[in-house]
Amino acid sequence: MKTNILVTGGAGFIGSNFIPHFLKKYPGYNVINLDLLTYAGNIGNLKEIEDNPRYKFIKGDICNRELVEFIFNEYLINGVIHFAAESHVDNSIKKPDVFIKTNINGTHTLVDVAYKFWMERPFAYNQKYSKCDSSDEEIILPRFHHISTDEVYGTLGSTGLFTESTPYAPNSPYSASKAGSDMIVRSYNHTYGLNTIITNCSNNYGPKQHDEKLIPTIIRNALKGNPIPIYGDGKNIRDWLYVIDHCKAIDLVFHNGAAGETYNIGGMNEKSNNDVATKICQILDELKPKQKGSYRDQIKYVEDRAGHDRRYAIDASKLENDLGWKAEENFESGILKTVEWYLEHYR
Ligand SMILES: NC(=O)c1ccc[n+]([C@@H]2O[C@H](COP(=O)([O-])OP(=O)(O)OC[C@H]3O[C@@H](n4cnc5c(N)ncnc54)[C@H](O)[C@@H]3O)[C@@H](O)[C@H]2O)c1
Repeated sequence: MKTNILVTGGAGFIGSNFIPHFLKKYPGYNVINLDLLTYAGNIGNLKEIEDNPRYKFIKGDICNRELVEFIFNEYLINGVIHFAAESHVDNSIKKPDVFIKTNINGTHTLVDVAYKFWMERPFAYNQKYSKCDSSDEEIILPRFHHISTDEVYGTLGSTGLFTESTPYAPNSPYSASKAGSDMIVRSYNHTYGLNTIITNCSNNYGPKQHDEKLIPTIIRNALKGNPIPIYGDGKNIRDWLYVIDHCKAIDLVFHNGAAGETYNIGGMNEKSNNDVATKICQILDELKPKQKGSYRDQIKYVEDRAGHDRRYAIDASKLENDLGWKAEENFESGILKTVEWYLEHYR
């Protein structure tokens, strides 16, 4: 019997990089992808697996309790990897309501159905953290893995790193809604003994990211000859991680992380928005030179985002020391692959 894993938000940026990787690595798993296909979801991101008999797509809302219960009962879900969310900070500033609904209520619906289903099942699962043999390796199932962000920790000054014990201080409606969802998941472990795990990751980049995000925006506008918009003075710093490195970390934590724990994931690649834009322009100058001048000349500073956090940086030593994870890409190698992918994509 195969192990059935429910992945939510699998048609989004990270989920659609994660599912093909996961299916390929674990022949003993089936993946059920529940995704509402909001403006951010793109089913075309999953073309490479659409005919895979171990993959099933279900269009639907994580807030729809009846549907989530149906999926658990129909597919006897053994594990959840929960990506689905409203994810764009700028949108959360304009319209926070849907962030509260999806990120907080939707996460609550999922974790509550998981708890009721796993604790009431007629075998093993009423035993706290019972071991279950997936045909690939013995792992702790059933498990609810919640994917979150480093933005829950707020902002840093010019020094210091976020650790797992940094107090939460979210500054945008997006990060506040993710912080709320983290707390709900945490409480289901603490109160009910549900086998949960939370990962808080820094900014991801790579193939399949929605056009609205910084790196696709820079590349697209550069190629179109438009101004490349950079918020404020461009000195806001993020710790950039190549998306496949994030997927590998999730895989590792899902299988080997300790129940009830939180793990930070980050690439030790602190870059300002100016650094990112300049690097992309330099790569484009080499791969697709303009007739005259550099893409850098198109950079244009625009009004800053309200409440824009200055700096995020992750200390991932717990994940590295306890589970042996290490990012494989540095920013130089990852951004080159990314620009090459978008050059193909925006042709
Ligand atoms: N992108 C990053 O840099 C980053 C970093 C750290 C953590 N995260 C977290 O990782 C997760 C995935 O991020 P992403 O960048 O892939 O996001 P994304 O916006 O690209 O994808 C989100 C996906 O969720 C789906 N979705 C939205 N609302 C839904 C609902 N109500 N029901 C079912 N599906 C719904 C969308 O259709 C989309 O496919 C999010 O939880 C996000 O907070 C992202």
